[in-house]
Amino acid sequence: MARIIAIANQKGGVGKTTTSVNLSASLALMEKKVLLVDCDPQANSTSALGMDGKNAGYDLYTSLVDNENLSSSILKTDIDYLDLLPATTDLAALELELVDKEKREYFFKELLSPLADEYDYIILDCPPSLGLITLNSLCFAEELVIPLQCEFFALEGIVKLLQTYETVKKKLNPDINVLGVILTMYDSRNKLAKQVKAETERCFPKLVFKTIIPRNVRLSEAPSFGKTILHYDIKSKGAEAYLALAKEVEARKIVK
Ligand SMILES: Nc1ncnc2c1ncn2[C@@H]1O[C@H](COP(=O)(O)OP(=O)(O)OP(=O)(O)O)[C@@H](O)[C@H]1O
Ligand SMILES: [Mg+2]
Repeated sequence: MARIIAIANQKGGVGKTTTSVNLSASLALMEKKVLLVDCDPQANSTSALGMDGKNAGYDLYTSLVDNENLSSSILKTDIDYLDLLPATTDLAALELELVDKEKREYFFKELLSPLADEYDYIILDCPPSLGLITLNSLCFAEELVIPLQCEFFALEGIVKLLQTYETVKKKLNPDINVLGVILTMYDSRNKLAKQVKAETERCFPKLVFKTIIPRNVRLSEAPSFGKTILHYDIKSKGAEAYLALAKEVEARKIVK
């Protein structure tokens, strides 16, 4: 059965997509069968892999209307062991359409659970909000990974996210646990970044991953070539960090 991991933080631009794509690719390199699900209408994970959801003609939104064809919409990527369920901008309509549906928080779970037999990991790249798409991801996932950018408001954002997580765990999905907090875009020359790192480690001593993702220009360049960091520049600090994160994720047991 797949480990189902939601990569979530309602704050925008903190490294959710960069982490989803490169963690998925790194796990795939370890010969783990991975399905990356692009849950964000911005479709950044889809384009970062050089794919286009329109080619599939099908994403999480279209499956609301016709959920027969889910497996035909899963795209093989150029990377062995890595498949993608793409997003298109149509996905933005899903939030609205789900509002008056019954069991609206469990739409992803009902649709995607049958895929858990076929993969070692299902990674969900969430949009920057705590709306119904993120809620659906948290109701389907068993593990939550929170990317945290080492900046001033980072910890305020995480408190709100953790409140949502607690509510979901209590009321909707008792099986979910926080796997860890991953510090992203870390610049050791920046004093504030160091302070945020220290404060995060003080607040969440068991949860912060040992691996820290450095600010690395190669990581920001890779998506424009439709490549993961492993395929764009395997020798970069960014590639090194995501490979280390994948090993840590693989080894880490849930901290309850
Ligand atoms: N470690 C890093 N070093 C340098 N640039 C990075 C790093 N991580 C992410 N970036 C860049 O920062 C921007 C935001 O990253 P990303 O898209 O992964 O965040 P996100 O949380 O998915 O954003 P959104 O909330 O819009 O979905 C992107 O341009 C990305 O290339
Ligand atoms: Mg994103």
